[in-house]
Amino acid sequence: MPQLFFALSLIALALMLAVVWQASAPAWKTYQREFHRLEAVGEPNALTKNAMLTTPLDIRQVLLPGLQRVDRCTTCHLGVEDPTMRNAPQPFTFHANLAPHLPARFGCTVCHGGQGLATDQQNAHGKVEFWQEPLLPREYIRASCGRCHKEGEVPGVPELAEGRRLFETQGCRGCHKLNGVGGSIGPDLTEEGAVRRFPEWLARHFLDPNAVSKSSPMPNFHFTKEQARALTFYMLSLTSEQMGTYYSSVRLIPSAGYGRQLFVEKNCIACHTIGGVGSKSGSDLLGVTKQHSSGWLDEQLVNPQLVYPGSSMPEYDLETNARKAIVTFMASATAEDARSILAGRAKPLTAQEAAIEAGKQNFARFGCVGCHGIQLQGGVPNPNSQGGEVPSLLHASDDYTKQEVIKIIQNGKAPPVENSKKPAPPLYMPSWKNVLSEEDINRVADYLWSLQKKRDAW
Ligand code: HEC
Ligand code: HEC
Ligand code: HEC
Ligand code: HEC
Ligand code: HEC
Ligand code: HEC
Repeated sequence: MPQLFFALSLIALALMLAVVWQASAPAWKTYQREFHRLEAVGEPNALTKNAMLTTPLDIRQVLLPGLQRVDRCTTCHLGVEDPTMRNAPQPFTFHANLAPHLPARFGCTVCHGGQGLATDQQNAHGKVEFWQEPLLPREYIRASCGRCHKEGEVPGVPELAEGRRLFETQGCRGCHKLNGVGGSIGPDLTEEGAVRRFPEWLARHFLDPNAVSKSSPMPNFHFTKEQARALTFYMLSLTSEQMGTYYSSVRLIPSAGYGRQLFVEKNCIACHTIGGVGSKSGSDLLGVTKQHSSGWLDEQLVNPQLVYPGSSMPEYDLETNARKAIVTFMASATAEDARSILAGRAKPLTAQEAAIEAGKQNFARFGCVGCHGIQLQGGVPNPNSQGGEVPSLLHASDDYTKQEVIKIIQNGKAPPVENSKKPAPPLYMPSWKNVLSEEDINRVADYLWSLQKKRDAW
């Protein structure tokens, strides 16, 4: 009996050890074995095949000091750089369109999120309670491009530029700080993309702030789905992480689209033709990139005088990638481009019109529209203020002189309270004298005055 009992307990122990061993044999080893098996399929040479199958299993990691991270995703995602794995199942699939963001220099998490150091799937994908940056859903991965490419356009990701444009024109800064500039009624958005919110939350919040954030003072802008998506992309790209200079060197991608935009802004068409269309005082730019090297053209944009002494071409203050972008545009520009640029050119404004236009821009850029509305119509709810909403500015000239309005903009104004026992109204008119120059405030006043409606007109 004792011998039998001893033998049985040995077996029981062995079984227990086997269970423990299996539980701790990490899944990544299984994935690596499977990957080597896939690699070896179809390998004719028996020796090579054997070498493949017996490749030692190891944790793969990329040290990325410039991005302050260490990524081990390629421990399982083994085929990202192997085009023969195009049709392999995940996690072995070849990664299309990765160049020039090679895994050895970029890793994975800077675009995807997830937890770089982890080697089991759940933790690596960040789908655990404590990790605040889980993998981005597929449709939002490209928002990460904006973490590094912060200006101009990112090819294939129009949402980023559109989101930035909406942010700067819809008055978000009136209530939100971004990189130190803006109001403080809403949260600072400088690191909105770093943690805090999931993409779906942001998108729903933009469609209707109240739906996800009870009695939010943030107005419903009635954005379309596309606009909400663009803003969500832009928000997700807002991180203020420290990056090595290599990574931040390409803030602006020198794309043809951005080059065209600069070509329009700098009014190059005022002196040049493309394929015969335009103004003839300078040379025709069709095919100019075939006649000169890109180095020569770059030099020409930096210092036209050096290339053509006495040239009437102005010197432009364009940074390296802006010049590259213009050259990229000129390489593909046609007479058709020249025609559409000429057609889109606004007629010159008078000095008075220019001041009003500048005031309108300020009114949007500094967030006045956020509270007062794009048409100055007011109407944003402001509970417990008299009237219950932010007033319209269309009749300000009935109550105030222009000087008085300038004073209000400079010093701010709290709305009269309906019931002093209830909480103060959430929205008040901030003081702008430390934000806007006197000139900017005068322009805003000019703009307001250009739109005044006399009440007795109807
Ligand atoms: C333990 C192995 C393992 C590690 C480590 C791992 N993954 Fe995965 N990953 C998988 C497997 C298996 C799949 C496919 C199965 C699935 O869809 O759940 C997958 C799918 C994915 C997908 C596509 C599907 C999805 O869920 O969105 C992405 C993106 C991804 N991984 C990114 C990463 C990143 C980034 C890292 C590093 C932070 C990483 N993975 C680390 C095993 C791993
Ligand atoms: C420069 C940014 C960038 C980097 C770096 C990057 N990816 Fe991706 N990845 C993307 C984008 C964008 C997509 C979405 C492609 C699409 O929409 O079809 C994607 C798609 C994927 C998918 C397929 C997702 C799905 O749902 O089918 C996997 C898996 C994946 N990446 C893994 C990785 C791994 C592993 C690394 C690191 C070796 C990595 N990626 C590095 C941008 C990146
Ligand atoms: C971590 C920062 C980072 C992220 C995130 C990133 N990029 Fe880049 N990107 C770079 C750097 C750095 C280069 C220059 C690479 C080189 O030339 O060595 C570059 C180059 C490029 C270029 C080529 C520019 C040229 O000079 O022609 C394109 C296009 C581009 N990125 C698009 C994207 C897209 C699309 C995404 C998102 C899927 C993305 N990038 C995400 C840093 C980043
Ligand atoms: C009238 C003031 C006001 C304006 C204008 C405004 N917001 Fe807000 N916003 C708020 C307040 C207050 C909150 C906090 C309550 C909430 O979550 O809705 C908020 C919340 C947010 C959040 C969520 C922040 C977080 O993580 O909790 C985002 C993102 C945001 N706003 C973006 C924007 C954008 C983009 C615009 C311009 C289209 C904008 N806001 C215009 C007041 C405003
Ligand atoms: C005020 C007029 C003027 C403006 C504005 C102007 N250019 Fe020029 N540019 C010239 C003249 C004139 C020349 C030819 C040099 C000469 O013959 O003196 C020239 C030469 C060039 C050349 C070299 C052409 C060749 O074949 O040698 C390029 C390229 C060029 N310009 C691009 C631009 C771009 C891009 C812009 C806008 C950013 C621009 N120019 C704006 C007047 C102008
Ligand atoms: C955070 C919301 C908010 C922002 C941003 C804001 N205002 Fe106001 N503003 C108010 C409120 C609330 C009042 C109403 C005070 C009252 O009811 O008497 C007001 C009042 C005014 C008035 C006086 C109107 C009147 O009938 O009393 C003017 C003029 C004005 N704002 C202009 C501006 C300009 C210009 C900007 C941008 C530079 C701006 N506001 C930005 C909330 C805001």
